[in-house]
Formats: sequence, C-alpha cells, structure tokens
Amino acid sequence: MTILVTGGAGFIGSNFVLDWLSHAVTRDEPVVNLDALTYAGNLQNLASLQGDARHTFVKGDIGDRQLLDALLAQHRPRAVVHFAAESHVDRSIHGPGAFMKTNVEGTFTLLEAVRGHWSALDDVAKAAFRFHHVSTDEVYGSLAPDAPAFTETHTYEPNSPYSASKAASDHLVRAWHHTYGLPVVTTNCSNNYGPYHFPEKLIPLMIVNALAGKPLPIYGDGQQVRDWLYVSDHCSGIRAVLAGGRLGETYNIGGWNEKTNKEIVLTVCALLDELRPSAQGPYSRLITYVTDRPGHDRRYAIDARKIESELGWRPAETFETGIRKTVQWYLSNADWVANVQSGGYRDWLNTNYKTR
Ligand code: NAD
Ligand code: DAU
Repeated sequence: MTILVTGGAGFIGSNFVLDWLSHAVTRDEPVVNLDALTYAGNLQNLASLQGDARHTFVKGDIGDRQLLDALLAQHRPRAVVHFAAESHVDRSIHGPGAFMKTNVEGTFTLLEAVRGHWSALDDVAKAAFRFHHVSTDEVYGSLAPDAPAFTETHTYEPNSPYSASKAASDHLVRAWHHTYGLPVVTTNCSNNYGPYHFPEKLIPLMIVNALAGKPLPIYGDGQQVRDWLYVSDHCSGIRAVLAGGRLGETYNIGGWNEKTNKEIVLTVCALLDELRPSAQGPYSRLITYVTDRPGHDRRYAIDARKIESELGWRPAETFETGIRKTVQWYLSNADWVANVQSGGYRDWLNTNYKTR
C-alpha cells in the first residue's frame, strides 16, 4: 500500500507527509511525493526524511502526463492526495496564468492519468481507491459580517483568479466522479498557519518582517476576517476524510476561529514582545496600513459540523496554542527563514509592496 501526494514539498503538503509518516495509524504506508519545486516548494521541509525508505521524492509537474502514467504504473498507489497548486491570492492578481496552468489544467491532467490507472484496477482495488482533492474555503466567496458560516452547500462565488482556479478544479473533480465514477473526496479548508509557511502569507510575513525591523503591511483597514486553523489539524482532517469520507462528498474543514487581520498582527507582535523583545520598543510600532488587495474578500468562516458529525473530527489546537507554537517555530528556525529569502523572494516583495 502506497499513497501518492502531489505538492508535498509545499507548506501544507510537507506538513501532511511528515504527519502521515509519524502518525501511529499511517506511518507504515509509504508516500510517493510529486512536486515541481516551484518557489513555494522546499525540500528542506522534508530534511528529517532523508534516507527514509518510506518517502520517495519525485521532482515533476502534475501537468506531465507521461511522468504521471509512469509513476502510477510503478508505484500503484491506493490513493492520491492532491495538494499541488499555485496558492497565493496576491500572486494570482499579478500573474493569473500560472494558476490556470497548474490549478485547472494540471488538475485535469492528473485526473485523466488517475482515471486511466483506476480503470485498469480489479474490482476490489477499484472500490478501495481514493482521489482526495485538497481545496479552499475561498471558492465560496465573501461573507457579510453577520452571515452564517460556509456550509458545503454554499453557492460557489469565487472572486480572485486563485479562487476561480480552485473552484474550477473542484468542479472537474466533481465531474470526474459523476461521469466516470472516479472515487473522489474533496475538502475545503480555511486559512492554515504553522511551521514551513512561506513568508509571503500574512502570519509568517509578519513574523519575518518584525524580526527584521521592517514595516508590517496591513491591507486596507485590517478588518477582514479569516478563520485560522493550525496546519496539523488540517492534516488530521484530511486523514479522517481520506479514511472515512463518503464518495463524491465535500467536507469543510475550519478552526471555529474567526479573527480580523489586525487582531492577528497584534497577537504576533505581542508574542514576539514576550519571546524576543526588541530594544526599539513594541513590534506593533512597525504596523503600516497599505493599499488594499483588489477584490479583497471581507470575511471567510467555515461551518465544520459535517466533518465533526460524520467523522468525529475537531481541531486539537486552539488559536492561542497554535500561534504560540508557530512563533516559537520561526524563532527556532532562523536558517530555514534565511534560506527561503532568496532573490526571487525579494523580487516578489518589490512587485507586491513597493507601490502600495
Ligand atoms: P504552497 O504554495 O505552499 O505549496 C504548493 C506546492 O505545490 C509547492 O511545493 C509547489 O512546488 C507545488 N506545485 C506547484 N505547482 C506544481 C505543479 N504544476 N506540479 C507539481 N507541484 C506543483 O501551498 P499550500 O499553502 O501548502 O497549499 C496546498 C494546497 O492546499 C493548495 O491546493 C491550496 O489551494 C490548498 N489550501 C491552502 C490553504 C492555506 O491556508 N494555505 C487553505 C486551504 C486550502
Ligand atoms: O482561506 C484559505 C486560503 O487562505 C488559501 O486557499 C490560500 O491558499 C491561502 O493563501 C490563504 O489566502 P488568504 O488570501 O486569506 O491568505 P493571506 O495570508 O495572503 O492573507 C490573509 C489576510 O491578510 C488577507 O485578508 C490579506 C491580508 N494581508 C495579507 C498579506 C500577505 C495583509 O493585510 N497584508 C499582507 O501583507
């Protein structure tokens, strides 16, 4: 038994691979990890698996059909867990093409390759096979302040090129189940945070900038709301759905933890004040309000009752425990932080922040 993970060198994918290979129930099942190593992929995240025969890393693109066919024939996975994607909303605004290529076309190519593999299995293996599509709450659009949280039946109303590309991929996965019978499950998760989060996203960017004494750029009025989930809780949610989710169903995963961006930044600053005080005074002095993100969704919130009632999943971390662990991880992993701040990273900061 083997699983094939796509995008397993990125933030959530690498946490998932590490979690899978350390969890009592799954740790004996090897992982084949296919990742193109874009700017967001980082083999350092998987350094603890070096020499571990349970982990096979393959550098490659989900859009490469020949490679997919060869990997599926060689490893005969009993499940595919699909993380690989372009994932940053701001990058999708500056350059949507890569999002269409990977998130839409790449998912299509992967589905076709997996369908070919699955169709040739015997009936028992066919019934046991799973294609798990990892998606986002952003496909549902933006909520009014007092509106109920997103359920799985909420209308799709994606607003950014990123969320539109993920919505398209969700629809493809759904169609491959309904038309071809491919045994799929989809999870739509809220904002993750934790170790190995690339510092283009809000929480790690704020930690890294604060430690460097740089401005902490809050878009617009900072009153946008996100529902934050510690990444290991996302991993346990995916394991639960992969093991027990009903075929063709979608499950929302969230932290029951709505916070404004301003609250998030102030919490990060307060933790840094406690754990790494600055001689220049409180880190909140660095907060700078900058031009808003175009089309910025105001509020996301996940109703996670379905996964709880059907599969007994609930997050293990509170925001207080998760954010403390996260800040401590960044303080203890200065080498990782230094290594991801390459020339490409600095170019991105220029592109996104210089004219704000
Ligand atoms: P990430 O950007 O950190 O990692 C993406 C990974 O995919 C990288 O390792 C990258 O190299 C790889 N990749 C990109 N294009 C590829 C291609 N064409 N072929 C093979 N590999 C490719 O993303 P993340 O934050 O870890 O998100 C993972 C998944 O979870 C995505 O599908 C995202 O939409 C979804 N998601 C993310 C969040 C979040 O808060 N980060 C929340 C909900 C859902
Ligand atoms: O909701 C799930 C989604 O969460 C995932 O699907 C995406 O892959 C993931 O990137 C994340 O999207 P967001 O756009 O919500 O995350 P980001 O960290 O980019 O931004 C969080 C909030 O913080 C958002 O309201 C924008 C704001 N922000 C972000 C940055 C980078 C700022 O105010 N300043 C910043 O510099």
